[in-house]
Formats: sequence, C-alpha cells, structure tokens
Amino acid sequence: MRVRITGTGSYMPEKILTNADLEKMVDTNNEWIVARTGIEERRIAAEHECTSDMAAVAARRAMEMAGVTAEEIDLIVVGTITGDYPWPATACIVQAKIGAKKAFAYDLSAACSGFIYALSSANDFIRSGHGKKALVIGAETLSRSIDWTDRNTCVLFGDGAGAVVLEAGEDDTGILSCHLHSDGNYLELLYQPGFGAKHPASAAGMEAKLQFLKMQGNEVFKVAVRSLTEVSIEALNAHGYTSKDVSLFVPHQANRRILEATAKRLGLADEQTYINVHKYGNTSGATIPVALDEANRAGMLKSGDLILSAAFGGGFTWASALLRWT
Ligand SMILES: CC(C)(COP(=O)(O)OP(=O)(O)OC[C@H]1O[C@@H](n2cnc3c(N)ncnc32)[C@H](O)[C@@H]1OP(=O)(O)O)[C@@H](O)C(=O)NCCC(=O)NCCS
Repeated sequence: MRVRITGTGSYMPEKILTNADLEKMVDTNNEWIVARTGIEERRIAAEHECTSDMAAVAARRAMEMAGVTAEEIDLIVVGTITGDYPWPATACIVQAKIGAKKAFAYDLSAACSGFIYALSSANDFIRSGHGKKALVIGAETLSRSIDWTDRNTCVLFGDGAGAVVLEAGEDDTGILSCHLHSDGNYLELLYQPGFGAKHPASAAGMEAKLQFLKMQGNEVFKVAVRSLTEVSIEALNAHGYTSKDVSLFVPHQANRRILEATAKRLGLADEQTYINVHKYGNTSGATIPVALDEANRAGMLKSGDLILSAAFGGGFTWASALLRWT
C-alpha cells in the first residue's frame, strides 16, 4: 500500500519586502542579494498573523483540492521551527482552527527539512494503519526570529505556509520512499541560541540578541550542496532510477546558487528543477509544500511523473522524498 498526495495548498502573506526595501534597512544592495542568493523579494506576515493562521489557510486549500473534510483527517503534522508558542504544538492550534476534531496533532522540529520529516512520519503512520488521511504542513513565521539589523541573515528569509493531504491509495503511485539524516555536530553553524532551556528568556539574552537566528552562511552552503546531492542520489538509487527519470526536482528553496549547484551535480537540466526562491526567499519548512502547490496548480505535476524532493537545514538535518505522482 502506498500513501499519496491528493491535495496541495499554500498561503503566502500579502506584504512583500523587496531588496530595495532592505537597502533602506541595512548596508546591502539588490545586485549583491540577487547575485549571491537569487532572491528578489520575500513575504512578511502581517502583525495579526502567525504560523497557525497561515498553516490553517494552506490546509483548507489542500483539503478543498483533495475533496476531504476536516472531520475526516486522522492526523496533522506541522514541520516548523517558528510555532505560535514554545508549546503546545502549533499543529494542535491548527486542528482547532480547521475543526479536525478526531485528528491527533503534533509538531516536528527539523528546521528546513521539517516538511520532508513530517511527510515521512505521516506516511509511516498511515502505512502502519494508524489513520487513513493526514494533513502534512510546513509553516513558518521566520520574520519574527530574524535580526533585521544583520545583513548576513535578514536578506535570506521569509514567511509562508504550504500543506498537503495524504491518503492511503491502492495502486503503486504515491510516496515511494523518504530518506532522513541528521548530524548534531554542526549545531552552531545554523541555530537560534535563545530562548529555550539552555538560555531562558532574560534581559541579558535580549541584549545579546540570542532570540535571533544565527548562521555561518558559507560553511552551511558547502555542507548543504553536498548533503542535498547525496540524499537525492540515495533516493534515486533505492529504486534503480537516475536523474534522467526525474520529471521534476522540487528542492528546499534556500538560495538559487545552492539549487543550481545541486542540480548540476545531479545532472538535472534547468527545466527539471522547480525554483521559486526569487519570490519568497527561504521560508524554511514551508518552501517545499509551497513549491509543490505552485507546480501542481500550474499543471506541472502529471499522473505517473517521478517527483524528487530534497531538503537541508539546521541540526543539521537533511532528507529526500521520491514520489510517483497520482
Ligand atoms: C549567506 C550567503 C548568501 C553569503 O554568501 P557568500 O558568498 O558565502 O558570502 P560571505 O558570507 O563569504 O560574505 C562575503 C561578503 O559579503 C558581505 N555580506 C554579507 N551579507 C551581505 C549583504 N546582505 N549585502 C552585502 N554584503 C553582504 C559579508 O559581510 C562579506 O564581506 P567581507 O568579505 O567584507 O567580510 C551564502 O553563504 C549562503 O547562501 N549560504 C547558505 C545559507 C542558507 O541557505 N542557509 C539556510 C540553509 S537551509
């Protein structure tokens, strides 16, 4: 039995922050940002919006496409590192917002790999008989964890949410496999130092800006390209495929240079790779479901297509998923 994606949905906040806007905030310029990252603009959540609001809209859109009601959903998994609260899980808040009364709901923290980790988890639940229909969501309000005076990081990230409905299927289409990896030795290259149990909230911590994302970009870059390539090859090899068999590669959207370097190493042509990082920047756990939804609604995902997805993020975590589109 395979588990398939029967609906996709996404929500991007209305407010657009362009590179020209950032030029007024920090010492940067459009040319640098476009040349180093490919990012032209990103979306920023409105003051009244947070992660569960965006996740709920994306979820409703995915359920509408699937023709599934909230009451039918058995589980909700949200991949996020910017939940509404440190606890409880944002997935529980989404459950209440959409009225998925019988679902069990939990968050999964795997940074930019959060969506594939969540997909893998829900896939395993359904395959083992613990539910028939799941919502898998990637949603982030990263704009609230960014130091808007730090040009090294603030140009890279944005907010948004994407969701898919998973259902047990009877044919051989759907999720072929997921491959997950982690290495905690790289913690300090990409993380948010405060305010968890190690550095609880304090005035001194605020002064030291521990509440903001910290990153050593060039170190992350190198490991990201290597890991994305390896985990993609792992997925293809597991089924005897090569990059020539891939209809569409839908990678985590961190930086155009990372995507292009990875696609080149994999031997993928430009038209085989879906890129939308120029419009949204890096929305961490949200990038892949948003990209999937855009590609799906644009008619780019056809029945029988082989879809490869791969992600890399803080932890470090990295992961891939291979799907035969239904
Ligand atoms: C962040 C990133 C774009 C920086 O590009 P880079 O080519 O590695 O640039 P460096 O970090 O070496 O910095 C080069 C110079 O640009 C400067 N710079 C950094 N941000 C800048 C900005 N927004 N505008 C202008 N200059 C900037 C740096 O200060 C540095 O100046 P210096 O040489 O005088 O010290 C790149 O490393 C990257 O994308 N890394 C991966 C990030 C990522 O995707 N993380 C999430 C993974 S899920």
